[in-house]
Amino acid sequence: MSSKFLLAQISDTHVRADDDGAAARNLKTALAQAGKYKVDVILLTGDLVNDERDDEYAVFACAIADPPAPLFVLPGNHDDRARMRTWLPSHTYFPRGDFLSYALDQFPVRIVAIDQIVPGETHGALTPQQADWLDRTLAEAPDKPTIVALHHPPFSTYDLLFDQIGLFDRDTFKSVISRHRQVIRVICGHHHRLAIGQVAHAPAIVAPSTSWVYGLALNPGQDLAPKTAEQPGWMLHAWTKEGGLASHFMGL
Ligand SMILES: [Fe+2]
Repeated sequence: MSSKFLLAQISDTHVRADDDGAAARNLKTALAQAGKYKVDVILLTGDLVNDERDDEYAVFACAIADPPAPLFVLPGNHDDRARMRTWLPSHTYFPRGDFLSYALDQFPVRIVAIDQIVPGETHGALTPQQADWLDRTLAEAPDKPTIVALHHPPFSTYDLLFDQIGLFDRDTFKSVISRHRQVIRVICGHHHRLAIGQVAHAPAIVAPSTSWVYGLALNPGQDLAPKTAEQPGWMLHAWTKEGGLASHFMGL
């Protein structure tokens, strides 16, 4: 197996059917950029569309129809699992059952993607059943460098809004990760801005959105989730056997 691995993480694409194709264009720009870097894998970490609608999934499916590398997706709080299955029939890695959680073992870095959305809610949750799945799945390959992906940030970013609507059960998530030293990075989205944190021993990164970037609300009285003129983008995670993992912001 190769000693080099490039993962493009694209998040919160929020594709719509009523924006003259703007969000889909940004997604396609990110895919084209990832292709130029010859990435090995592309992973979309949720909020594929803006409002769980069929017409939005139709636009989304079109936008990702010819990716420059194998492409995988996770749901976010703006997604609908059943519609994802319907509109993405070629995504045969989706497991049966309720949750769209899966592990990718075919690359030099293992990717464990966990679906932790709560239908109808903005926050995420890790039920005992999902925590057990994550623990068992990570235990299957204790010696292989592993990236764990999810939608909601599993650490506090100190934002007044996003800490309320991030992953509930952060302590449970952290305690699972702490038992698996091979986890070299946790990656997520949801906050629409680049942020870096820590989950047990693993650095954790919130990818920006390809659609819009939120400002921070750190003090009472500040606007919550203000849109900014900051640059949307995606993350390029570059791994080598000798050097480990480096994560780069890639502006659109
Ligand atoms: Fe989002």
